[in-house]
Amino acid sequence: MKLHIAVLPGDGIGPEVIAQAVKTLKAIATEYNHVFTFEYGLVGAAAIKKTGSALPEETLELCKKADTVLFGAIGSPQYDKDPDAKIRPEQGLLGLRKALDLHTNIRPIIAYEDLSNKSPLRKKWIKDVNLCFYRELTGGIYFGEKTWSNDGNTASDTCTYTRNQIERVAHSAFKAAKSRRNKLTLVDKANVLASSKLWRKVVMEMALQYPEVDVNYLYVDQAAMQLIINPKQFDIILIENMFGDIISEEASVIVGSIGLLASASLGDKYSMFEPIHGAYFKATDKGIANPIAAILSAAMLLEHFDLHEEAALTRRAVDKSLQLHITTPDLNTKYDNISTSKVGDFIEDFISNPEETNLNFTNIHLGQSTII
Ligand code: IPM
Ligand code: MG
Repeated sequence: MKLHIAVLPGDGIGPEVIAQAVKTLKAIATEYNHVFTFEYGLVGAAAIKKTGSALPEETLELCKKADTVLFGAIGSPQYDKDPDAKIRPEQGLLGLRKALDLHTNIRPIIAYEDLSNKSPLRKKWIKDVNLCFYRELTGGIYFGEKTWSNDGNTASDTCTYTRNQIERVAHSAFKAAKSRRNKLTLVDKANVLASSKLWRKVVMEMALQYPEVDVNYLYVDQAAMQLIINPKQFDIILIENMFGDIISEEASVIVGSIGLLASASLGDKYSMFEPIHGAYFKATDKGIANPIAAILSAAMLLEHFDLHEEAALTRRAVDKSLQLHITTPDLNTKYDNISTSKVGDFIEDFISNPEETNLNFTNIHLGQSTII
């Protein structure tokens, strides 16, 4: 298959982790005779610095003409202390989501057996957790009207949803539930918010079209608690934009590190794949950023283009790296010198030679004997 991939590494640790995802995709291309081409673009603080805009026109054009987009992270502490900043790195990401109409954000949360001791939650509660968020990504309070009073002492954000916006993400969520454990939970605040009442009404109507799916409804405050005390009850969680941002980040404690969480953002025409974690500025260029979320985002990209065998091999490589403790310090309790790029090298090596070299490779990279 030929794929032209727009690569937007962005800020902070974005470039380092995306480099490992590109390495992975190149290894897959070689192994399976695909032609993947990569074209780089600026976004976020890096783009503001060079062009004055967080989403330069050129970047948007690049994303539109490419087959898909691989995105790193955006953000910079410089802006976090300036609430009056007119231009912010986040505008790059939000602008892309809107311009490419990426309405459905898929965030899988899978607990790895090998990492169960990394989560602050009890092992028996998190074992076998496999849930997936379907977060609406182009509506709600993020994109509603914003106002400031003239004296600067009053501000408002509006949360608006239309039936159509709800239906398109909900259809994808119902279909996903059908291919999984047939369970869908709508998370909302329908006891208070008008927009949530619309969500509940539309989803209740739609449930009739999917009789095999068991649909549950949870208020977001209750969901926040249930996710921690009994995450195994969930299969698909359908959720609006803002609640989804908060609750999906909370879910990262189940897997032990946000550095493991990948995502896909899909529209009718375009697609984008990105790790959930942010720019983690403090860690930039230290070689400690976990590239697994970016690599698993690349696996989701492969799946999106029906390259299932390729995606499965990528996932096997990730599993193996976790099993052998070829991981960055956020996860590693055994070795302290495994860098971002070493994890990427291991994944690349495993993909090119899944059966034989990996144990040997472990030893080489740990500076140990190569005779095994
Ligand atoms: C996310 C991020 C973004 C969001 C930020 C960076 C704008 O937190 O993708 O979850 O709020 O959606
Ligand atoms: Mg977030």
